[in-house]
Amino acid sequence: MTTIGIIGSGNIGSNVARAAIAHEYEVVIANSRGPESLSDLVKELGDAASAGTVDEAVHAGELVLVAIPLKAIGDLPVAPFEDKVVMDANNYYPQRDGRIPALDTNASTTSELLQEHLPHSHVVKAFNNIPAKDIPRDGQPSGDDDRRALPIAGNDHAAKVRVAEFLDTLGYDALDLGDLSESWKVERDTPSYVKRTTLDELKELTADVERVQQA
Ligand SMILES: NC(=O)c1ccc[n+]([C@@H]2O[C@H](COP(=O)([O-])OP(=O)(O)OC[C@H]3O[C@@H](n4cnc5c(N)ncnc54)[C@H](OP(=O)(O)O)[C@@H]3O)[C@@H](O)[C@H]2O)c1
Repeated sequence: MTTIGIIGSGNIGSNVARAAIAHEYEVVIANSRGPESLSDLVKELGDAASAGTVDEAVHAGELVLVAIPLKAIGDLPVAPFEDKVVMDANNYYPQRDGRIPALDTNASTTSELLQEHLPHSHVVKAFNNIPAKDIPRDGQPSGDDDRRALPIAGNDHAAKVRVAEFLDTLGYDALDLGDLSESWKVERDTPSYVKRTTLDELKELTADVERVQQA
């Protein structure tokens, strides 16, 4: 059985956990307050879930999800992430995260910042473009006309293939936008942001996006 390590037990982390468990994965989930604070969530999630420290969740995960506020990524320990495929759900909200000059000037993207912090991991943008509550309830079998598509981006092809397979199992098509530097195309204030789209619709909405200055 494949284990997903989940860092962040809030909206995204808990809902990816629900979807993963519904599709026969195991999850080890961590937050900032420690495993004992996760007993209610783990009870709700059932036998396929356990709580751990951040190090334990990363270590256990064949895929690891980072679903914490962007301002906290610098607090993540670097060593446990070595060689891990890391799904990055982050978006930039200055009112929550503070102003980040590299994003305000479009010199970088949120996922490139995470990749810089975790240089020996393989970061793939994923789950940033769907409202958290939709994740466990909107998946559909492969081939359905109305199947929802989610964007991914990353610098490592093999890592993207693994994330696309995970999304497919959860019931989603994946649209590969290219490298992490392209991931701004599906971030806040872009046409596709948190919209329900099929693969063709997502391709259309991400084809000619204008990169505006972050406000
Ligand atoms: N909410 C959505 O629908 C949505 C959709 C797409 C993308 N996103 C993005 O996904 C990210 C997570 O959003 P969210 O809504 O899931 O956030 P959230 O509900 O506020 O949950 C954040 C989680 O991160 C944990 N955390 C914070 N700092 C940490 C650290 N240093 N180490 C380990 N865990 C830490 C918190 O732990 P504690 O519980 O212990 O405080 C909490 O469990 C954000 O960048 C957000 O913009 C959100």
